[in-house]
Amino acid sequence: QQSYEYILVSRPDPSVVLVTLNRPKSLNALSSPLFKELNQALEEADKDVSVGAMVLTGSDRAFAAGADIKEMKDKQFSDVYKNDFLVDWTRIRQLHKPLIAAVSGYALGGGCELALMCDIILASPTAKFGQPEINLGVIPGGGGSQRLIHAIGKSRTMELVLTGRNITAQEAAAWGMVSRVVGEGEGEVVKEAVSMAKEIASKSQIAVQAGKEVVNAAYEMSLSEGLRFERRIFHSLFATNDQKEGMAAFAEKRKPNFTHS
Ligand code: CAA
Repeated sequence: QQSYEYILVSRPDPSVVLVTLNRPKSLNALSSPLFKELNQALEEADKDVSVGAMVLTGSDRAFAAGADIKEMKDKQFSDVYKNDFLVDWTRIRQLHKPLIAAVSGYALGGGCELALMCDIILASPTAKFGQPEINLGVIPGGGGSQRLIHAIGKSRTMELVLTGRNITAQEAAAWGMVSRVVGEGEGEVVKEAVSMAKEIASKSQIAVQAGKEVVNAAYEMSLSEGLRFERRIFHSLFATNDQKEGMAAFAEKRKPNFTHS
């Protein structure tokens, strides 16, 4: 497997790729070189037929403390505009397979936005989420304002974006921003995310991809368009071997053997 400078890539299970952000000295600040490696590793995993789901994590202290402020501080408008700075960050949303964030410690600014780009967020009790860009004289630029609205509503999004206040894992769970808070200590969240990824990977990959596609479509479509889209994708799954196998296995009271075809 390829070796990277700012991330670690491992296979905790043959069907799961675990990507660990690894710039401990800067609390996993999301520099451009780091993001390049992250995109590459995730895109490779997405293409690998033996992989069913991916997990993204950081360290106990920080999932990621945001975009790299030291890299950004001297940039000019003309640079960031011409190069469409942060456009690379949108590539994560093109992944077909599910990506689960296992968050411990700081998930601030771009770190919070990165977690929000994932399909499911699990948080350890130490996780802290926030959009502190306002304290730097800017605003979120990696999708935070837009994705938070969907996750937690307008008033709470305004509060986070305009005050820069961090919220705890428990608040994030109560607000519906994360699926749940896992375990008592720090280490458990990654284990739980890997076990969830493994479970997802045991399903039909075609159905999983379709499920992700229709859930994400709800962000972009009206309710009636979304319902129609969901129904059409549901219909299309009747063309797969996995639908035949899944339903036959139920009728025959046995476990399905999905072939992802
Ligand atoms: N960029 C670059 N370096 C960072 C960083 C960041 N986002 N966050 C932390 N670091 C560095 C610190 O500069 C420090 O480096 P040195 O040892 O060389 O000084 C190291 O990581 C450890 O950090 P602290 O000493 O500050 O650790 P702490 O425990 O006292 O504080 C913290 C932790 C509260 C997370 C604090 O580091 C902090 O406030 N970080 C910045 C958070 C932030 O503003 N994030 C938003 C960035 S802008 C953005 O993300 C834009 C966007 O929408 C895409």
